Amino acid sequence: MSPFDKANALLAEVELANPATAEQLEQFRIQYIGTKGALKDVFAEIKNIEKERKSEYGQLTNRIKTVAEEKFFALKAELEAAQDALIDIPDLSAPAEPFALGARHPVALVMNRIVEVFSRMGFTIADGPEIEDDWHNFSALNTPEDHPARDMQDTFYLMRSAKGLVLRSQTSTAQVHTMQSKQPPIRVISPGRVYRNETISARAHAQFHQVEGLYIAEDVSFADLKQTLLHFVKEMFGEKVNIRLRPSFFPFTEPSAEMDVSCFICDAKGCAVCKQSGWVEILGCGMVDPAVLDNCGIDSEKYTGFAFGMGVERQTMLLYGINDIRLLFENDMRFLRQFSAAH
Ligand code: DAH
Repeated sequence: MSPFDKANALLAEVELANPATAEQLEQFRIQYIGTKGALKDVFAEIKNIEKERKSEYGQLTNRIKTVAEEKFFALKAELEAAQDALIDIPDLSAPAEPFALGARHPVALVMNRIVEVFSRMGFTIADGPEIEDDWHNFSALNTPEDHPARDMQDTFYLMRSAKGLVLRSQTSTAQVHTMQSKQPPIRVISPGRVYRNETISARAHAQFHQVEGLYIAEDVSFADLKQTLLHFVKEMFGEKVNIRLRPSFFPFTEPSAEMDVSCFICDAKGCAVCKQSGWVEILGCGMVDPAVLDNCGIDSEKYTGFAFGMGVERQTMLLYGINDIRLLFENDMRFLRQFSAAH
C-alpha cells in the first residue's frame, strides 16, 4: 500500500468512526489524535514522498487531523451537555429551603402605627437632622439661656464644634425646620431619634425616639388639639381609652399641658403600671408660643397652632408590657423575635 493509500484509508476510518460513550471517545482520541496515534505514522511518512507530491500529501494528512479533531471536540461537547442536563434537572416537588425571617423592632412597629394614625388625619412627615445647632434645639424654641435642659447634664454637646452643635434632645427641632421652609397651613409629624445625657436604667435611656406633631393655620384652637389627640389615643389604644390634660410648662408652648391616657392595662382600676392612679402620661403638648412662630418667620398675628411631642419607647412598653427600656436597645434576638412583622 502506498503512503497515499494508507492515508486515504485512515481518513475514511476517521470519518466513519462513531464513538458514542465517554470511553469510546477517549479510545478514539488515543487511536487517532494522541502522540502515539495512527496519525503520527502517517505524518512520518512524508519524508518518503517524492518532492512534487509532498504538498499534496501534507494537505491530505492535515485533512485527517482536522477531521479527527473536529469530530473529537464536537462529540466531547455533546457528551458534556448531556451530562449537565442530567445534573441540572431541578426537583420541582422538593420543599423550599427554610430561611429565617426577620421581625420588625417593636419601637419601629409602634412608631409606624403612630405615623399611620396621624397620616390618616392628613399629617405628612417632616424630617430633621440628629445633629443640631443650639439655635434649632433651644433658642428658636424659646428656651432661655439658663434653662436647665441646656445643662451639660441633659444635652450631649459635640465638644469639638465651635458652633455649639448638639445631638438633638427633642424632635421639636423639626418644627423649626418646617416653619423656616414653609408657610401655613402646616400639618406635619416628625418621628425620629433623640439623645439625652441620662443615666441608663430600667426607665431611662440616653437615646430614644419621639414623634413630634405640629399644626399651624388660621384659627387653630386648643379644642382642635384636644380632639386630635383624643382621636389618636382611641386609634392607638382602643375606643374605651380616655384622656386627661394637666396644665404644665414647656418653653415653646403657651398654654402647655401634659396628657395622660386612662390606664388600658387595668381598665383604669389601678395597677403597678399606672401606680394605682388609673392614668399614664404619654405626651406633652400646647399652643405654639407666638414668639416661636415669630422666631421661625411665621406671622403670629395671623396664624395660631398647636404642637405635641410623645415618647415612642414609653408607648411601646405599655403596649407590649415591657418593663425595662434597656431591652429595646440590646438587640437580643430572643427578645426581638417575639414581635411579629404583621403589625
Ligand atoms: N419636646 C418635649 C420633650 O421632649 C415634648 C413636647 C412638649 C413637644 C410639648 C411639643 C410640645 O411639641 O408642644 O419633652
